[in-house]
Amino acid sequence: MKVSIIGGGGLVGSCAAYALQCGGLVREIALLDVNQELAVGQALDLQHGGPSIADQTIQGGSYEHIPDSDIICITAGLRRKPDESRLDLINRNTDLFVQILRDVKAAGIKSTAIVLVVSNPVDILTYVAAQTLGLPINQVIGLGTQLDTIRFCSLIAEELNAPPTQTKALILGEHGESMVPIWSSATIGGLPLDKFSGWDHGVASKVFTRTRGSGAEVIKRKGGAGFAVGIAIRDCIDAIALDRRCILPVSSVQDGCYGIRDVALSVPTVVGRTGVMRRIELDLWPKEIQGIRASGTALRSTLSAVMPRVGSL
Ligand code: LAC
Repeated sequence: MKVSIIGGGGLVGSCAAYALQCGGLVREIALLDVNQELAVGQALDLQHGGPSIADQTIQGGSYEHIPDSDIICITAGLRRKPDESRLDLINRNTDLFVQILRDVKAAGIKSTAIVLVVSNPVDILTYVAAQTLGLPINQVIGLGTQLDTIRFCSLIAEELNAPPTQTKALILGEHGESMVPIWSSATIGGLPLDKFSGWDHGVASKVFTRTRGSGAEVIKRKGGAGFAVGIAIRDCIDAIALDRRCILPVSSVQDGCYGIRDVALSVPTVVGRTGVMRRIELDLWPKEIQGIRASGTALRSTLSAVMPRVGSL
């Protein structure tokens, strides 16, 4: 299994590479970056740690790595300013992203490759990649709300002094302002979250608000998120590499789930070696379903403005 990370020199790409290295699952990791010297440097630094972790090859370089890659993870892109929404990034990032897709396509992509989009606004760019790359649509996945979901669990766990790995609560919809907390299925250690002492509406709302602002909070404090997004990327890549078929809140082009079509956003999605295997549409609270649909409507209107700029590759 070979994973190429485009934008591998940057914070997100290099943290993803480090998370994959520590996971020890994939045989080959390639870091691609416009700044090739930086990509080679990051790869060398990671390679030096290899003897204490796993038997992997880690290389820096450019698009020569694409043709034999099984997973292509695209992290390259401009970062938000602290007061900028992810959708504001669209105008600045779309042209850059489309050029990356052109370069990937020109390099030659395996027909079985899975493309994992991380660049923002991730739901918009996932749709753009799915519509233009020429791969089967199930082979294009966006990181979506997997990152928001683990942030959410970590903050709930902190609030209740609960074990983070046993704290389970989903965020669905847009990876952005309209993201939706799914309280109806939240549990800790298999027990309903809302039954825990110390938990009430005020606390819930405070924790969700902080979760939604987490990306901006980290940008403000340290310049940009790296470690957690790297782990979220690893969650997805492990599911693909091991064909785990686990249920992840990741983004893909929807085809009727909760009545949503022709837009990419996150719903519970079974992820395995072939990418998106199916989606799980359960009867959540009506306001949760309405929230996911509202994400779809907001993203669709942005796509209507963006797609005419994109053209074909
Ligand atoms: C964040 C970026 C990765 O939420 O969107 O930190």
